[in-house]
Order: sequence, then structure tokens, then C-alpha cells
Amino acid sequence: MSEGRSCPLAYRYPSTSLCQEPRTVSEDVLYIIGGLYGNPWALDEIEQMALAEERQGHRVRLVFNGDFNWFNASDSLFRTINNRVLDHTVSLGNVDYELANPSAGAGCGCAYPESVDQGVVERSNRIMERLQGIAEEHPDIQKRLSLLPRYRCLIFGGLKILVVHGDPESLAGWGLAHEAFTAGNDHKLSEWFLASDADLIASTHTCLPVLWSGLVGERGRMVVNNGSAGMGNLYSDPRGLITRIGLSSPVIEPVTGVERHGLHVSLLPVPYSLEAWLPEFDRLWPAGSPAAVSYRNRMINGTSLRVNDLIFNSLI
Ligand SMILES: [Fe+2]
Repeated sequence: MSEGRSCPLAYRYPSTSLCQEPRTVSEDVLYIIGGLYGNPWALDEIEQMALAEERQGHRVRLVFNGDFNWFNASDSLFRTINNRVLDHTVSLGNVDYELANPSAGAGCGCAYPESVDQGVVERSNRIMERLQGIAEEHPDIQKRLSLLPRYRCLIFGGLKILVVHGDPESLAGWGLAHEAFTAGNDHKLSEWFLASDADLIASTHTCLPVLWSGLVGERGRMVVNNGSAGMGNLYSDPRGLITRIGLSSPVIEPVTGVERHGLHVSLLPVPYSLEAWLPEFDRLWPAGSPAAVSYRNRMINGTSLRVNDLIFNSLI
């Protein structure tokens, strides 16, 4: 397989192992933040959102589930993003993994499926090469990244919350992508929930949001994919999205949400300042650069998805 389409062996893990050592968290709210993509303005906004929750008496834990690096292609922004993120609960995405441990022939490590255009894959590989060149100048940060886990299992509200980057088989798996739910992935979901014993699986990686709820083994289960915290996700909407899991309803109006077993699971918009970020992005990635070609339009205009398109339910 060519660079950017392969899945390095080190990305793989057995789904039975994922929740064997769960860690109990004591906060009232989890923010699960996937795909920040090096956007400092989105991080500012997320911190403000957490402060707004705290003013209402909710203690918030920030959980980053990977790909917090991507557009931060300067020494100062690389250090800033990593130093800020690494203060919190963090697991790796394929981008962060490849910055800490470059795999020969992996390219961006995205494991893009055949449906993704070759031009997108090649541009992502070039973005990764540039970012790896910067990461090499910051061995202290590379070291900290290399020590991070590939997934986490948290006990929250008495339930098992499995936090992955891709899917329950691979760091860069596409099994929890919006496209997988559209095509029908009930069999695989059932297998993964039974193997891991998770109540909720939170993912990101594939950059489009999903909120799924259903029954597996006579227990209500959920999957939530926040798409991207640092880029637009919905039609004509430049706001990022994060997953919020709380014991009470959010203080910010969610894009959508569901309540199960006393847990409020929501996709919260991140209305960061695009006016502030776009000039900085343009300096780092001018017209014609791989990130500008692949992502600038989406940053401004979002995607073709409407809110109803991201909601899935099933009885397995
Ligand atoms: Fe990813």
C-alpha cells in the first residue's frame, strides 16, 4: 500500500483489551476534543467554554483524543499547542504518533480508504513531512508525545467511556467514520461493544461527526464522533465541534445531543474566531500549499452535512 493509505502495525490493538484498566474520573463533565489540528483559537474557545461550565458549578476534565497537531507548522505554535494540550488528559492520534515515532512508509498514517482522492492523501503526506521537520527540532515534546497512550477507558457516571482516536481495532481505523454508519456497521459495532464492554465509545480521526445510540447485549450504548474541534463540520458552519459528556445538561446550546442512563451526551459547537485564525493559517499555509488546497474552503464554509445527517439509531 502507498504512503497515507497504510495502517502501521503499531496502530493496531485488540478490542478486548481496551477497557481492561479503566480509570475513574471525578469531574462532572468531560470534554472530548478530537482534531484540534493545531488551532490555538479553538483551544482558547474550548477553555472559555469550560470556564462557563465551572461558573455554573460543573467541574470539567479536558480529554484530547488525538490530532491536536496538524496546521501548527511553526516552532512557536508547535510548542504552544503541545504545551497547552499536554497539561490535560491526552491520548494519541495518528498525526501525533507520527510526530513522535515516524513510521517508515506511513506518510500521514491516516489509513485513508480507497474512496478518498489520491490528491488528498498526497497533500496530507506533505503536511506531515513539514510538521515532522519541525517536531525534530523539539525532542522534549517528541519525548512527551511518545509516552502517551493510544486510547483510554474512563469510568464516568458509573459507565465505561472508551476514548479512541480511530476505532476499536486501530488508531487510524475508519470503522466509526460517518461513511461507515451510512453504509451500515451494526455488526461491527455489536462486536466491538461486546468485546470491550464499553457503554460509550468516543472517536474522531475521520473528521465528520456522528451521534449513534442503540442497544447491544440488552444494554443501551452510544458512539459519538466529534468530527473536528478545530475546523467546521456542518453545512455553511465554520464552528468546530467537541463531545461533551455530563451528569447534567450543557450550559451551552448543543448542536445535538441525547440522554441515556442519566448521561447527557452532546456535540457542542466551538465558535472560535475564524477572523483571527485564518490570517495566521494563511501565513503558515499560503495559497497552493497542501493544507490550503485541502482544508481552507472547509474552514470557511464547513461541509455538506446537516445536523440530521449525523444522527443514527439502531437496535442490534
Ligand atoms: Fe487522525
